[in-house]
Amino acid sequence: MPRPALSSTPCPAGCPLRIERVDQRALSRLAAPALAALIALTAGCTGDTVQGRPGASGVRDPYFPKAGNGGYQVDHYDLDLAYDPADKQLHGTAVITARAKQGLSSFNLDFAGLRVEDVTVQGAAARFNRSGTELTVRPPEDLEKGEVFRTEIDYTGTPKPVTDPDGSEEGWITTADGSVAVGEPVGSMGWFPGNHHPSDKATYDIRLTVPNDYEAVSNGELRSRTAVGDGQTEFAWHNAEPMASYLATAAIGKFKVSTGRTPSGIGVYNAVSPDEAPSSAAALARIPEVVEWGSGKFGPYPFGTVGTIVVPDGTLTYALETQTKPVYSGAPDEVLIVHELAHQWFGDSVSPKSWKDMWLNEGFATYAEWMWAEEHGGLSAEKRFDAFLAGDTKVDPDAGSDWGAFPPADPPGPEDISEAPVYARGAMVLHRIRQEVGDEKFAALLRGWAVEHRHGNASTADFTAYAEKKTGHDLTEVWDVWLYGEDRPEA
Ligand code: ARG
Ligand code: ZN
Repeated sequence: MPRPALSSTPCPAGCPLRIERVDQRALSRLAAPALAALIALTAGCTGDTVQGRPGASGVRDPYFPKAGNGGYQVDHYDLDLAYDPADKQLHGTAVITARAKQGLSSFNLDFAGLRVEDVTVQGAAARFNRSGTELTVRPPEDLEKGEVFRTEIDYTGTPKPVTDPDGSEEGWITTADGSVAVGEPVGSMGWFPGNHHPSDKATYDIRLTVPNDYEAVSNGELRSRTAVGDGQTEFAWHNAEPMASYLATAAIGKFKVSTGRTPSGIGVYNAVSPDEAPSSAAALARIPEVVEWGSGKFGPYPFGTVGTIVVPDGTLTYALETQTKPVYSGAPDEVLIVHELAHQWFGDSVSPKSWKDMWLNEGFATYAEWMWAEEHGGLSAEKRFDAFLAGDTKVDPDAGSDWGAFPPADPPGPEDISEAPVYARGAMVLHRIRQEVGDEKFAALLRGWAVEHRHGNASTADFTAYAEKKTGHDLTEVWDVWLYGEDRPEA
């Protein structure tokens, strides 16, 4: 029996004809008069659930227009990855559970390199094609607005690094004894297909199957470690809290693993490249204390676990606050640990709405370093602020950076979002607020911001509005001069 051209459940858009779905192929089989009659009948229906249209290829991020995709939102990623460091082949199955935000005839995923072997939507084979980093999937039937749908993508190949606009290589990177994945801003599309923009956070299950003599580490909690035969072990990692895809990681290597607990009972899992273990030990020992300190300042630690991945020195050009387990390239020091753990509140839990809002991550994590030093026998934030203003590198070597080159809330281009103004001048914005409102209101502001936006997304405009409301101060001058002003502010 051929499927009907129209099914007769009520149209959610209120079309009186109770038309919910148009089947394109059935439609094409209709004779011309029947088709004409149908078009006349449905002319009044405006609901985009009646007939899907293609989802957009980006979410119009001002810096990365192709990042993310329109028309749906992901609830959950289930990634099954098998990797053998000997042949560097990755075999992946990604099952993405998403919700359509419009009727969809097709939708895009961001994916770079590798070979897509098969795509299904709701269990049915789907057509797909690729253009640059866009993977377009055309389900056999249009998806309805509000529909929750599962897309499965099978893929394989040798992952290639993604070069971001500032020249750093990210994505799936090989190390001396394995691999590690990092993705800020857009590297994650180099190892799994997805809606790769921080505005779409989702929960994750990441299973890594590797040869028995390797460790495989990812975000969140290790649910199981199972010998699956054929000399392979599967590590199943679970993330119950939402995560932006740039914060996903997978690390495979001959790590030394150690576990513990913070004073309040959060599980710690540190995986350290053996060569880096002796030089990492002192800084890693402070993790429980840093988590407690952050919880006191910024509200309860946002995740169920914490930890570390240390890969061999020189593997990456940056450390990253990968959710629950920051990645360090070589042994971190205490300051870097404080920075990446501060990001768990600022960046990971409260994530930017767009890459323009990067200072909400980096300015806050940098200011956390200043606060930590101030409260642990080091320089006061006020003295550090003054040293930056004066460019006094004897007090802080970073004071010599070109922190004044552009306003933190308006980097000139995508290659600038990780430059000194976003970090140092971003921190100086916070210190200027503190100078205006005093220590007490400032502390309440930092904590309130993290608590009220916990596991969400926020923009610079959200922050400036919140800061004025929370403190009751007019901070126009701080915004105009420090946050948005083109000129380097002076003492
Ligand atoms: N967010 C990382 C950090 O705090 C830096 C990421 C830099 N990314 C880049 N493409 N340069 O420390
Ligand atoms: Zn940072």
